[in-house]
Amino acid sequence: MDTIALNHRSIRRFKAASVDYQALEDVARATASSEFLQSFTLIRVTDKALREQIAAISGSAVLQGDNGELFVFVVDCARDIALAPTGSDVHNFTNWNAFLAGCFDATLAAQNVLACAERSGLGGVFLGSILNDPQRMIDLLHLPRHTFPLLGLMVGVPDEAPQPKPRLPRALTVGENGYPQGDVAQVRAYDTAVAHYYANRGADARDESFTSLVQRHLTAAVHHRDEIGAILARQGFVLPQD
Ligand SMILES: Cc1cc2nc3c(=O)[nH]c(=O)nc-3n(C[C@H](O)[C@H](O)[C@H](O)COP(=O)(O)O)c2cc1C
Repeated sequence: MDTIALNHRSIRRFKAASVDYQALEDVARATASSEFLQSFTLIRVTDKALREQIAAISGSAVLQGDNGELFVFVVDCARDIALAPTGSDVHNFTNWNAFLAGCFDATLAAQNVLACAERSGLGGVFLGSILNDPQRMIDLLHLPRHTFPLLGLMVGVPDEAPQPKPRLPRALTVGENGYPQGDVAQVRAYDTAVAHYYANRGADARDESFTSLVQRHLTAAVHHRDEIGAILARQGFVLPQD
């Protein structure tokens, strides 16, 4: 079994070092793709001013200064629509199925890049925080209709070696032939493991269990994320509730 994958941890501090990012871009391009439509686009952000504006959206310290390289993975159905004969019904490229296919393709490509980076001695962290203001991301990256900025990914040479975060017990997250039968009360023991992890994080130590983390999310700031449905509609996706 691949112990590098089992030892995954997000890296948020990077050394100043040159990296063959084009090789990572090729890994993204080589990733499996739903229906082979390759419904994603990868944008590498090298412009400092643009990166600073994205940093303001994300609010993440990871994006401060020259720390690592930023990639944005974009759901992209625009190419498919551009290839359709003029006047065609493009429903199959704007519906839930097309949008989900774009999400699969963009996410799998991002994970493939991170996994490859980790196997190559690099590290990284996803940045879902670009979704704090999706419309601003669309404007900043000049994204056309039928696209959506799904996920950021920072990659670089690690300048930290964090402890791995313990995961939920198998009994709660892995089922055989159906939904796992584990009792959610098993989270109590896991709470202790998570609390131990957070208590021993050096300067970043805090009093936190898995349950407290989940409950904090009930009141976490959503920024502009509640607008995602309306933004997707403006981008030309047709995603009805029923
Ligand atoms: C879709 C997604 C979005 C994420 N967004 C952020 C983010 O915006 N900022 C951040 O610091 N970490 C982000 N992360 C990293 C998670 O915080 C991290 O994976 C999780 O805490 C588990 O830690 P580990 O990756 O070190 O095992 C994201 C992870 C995923 C899968």
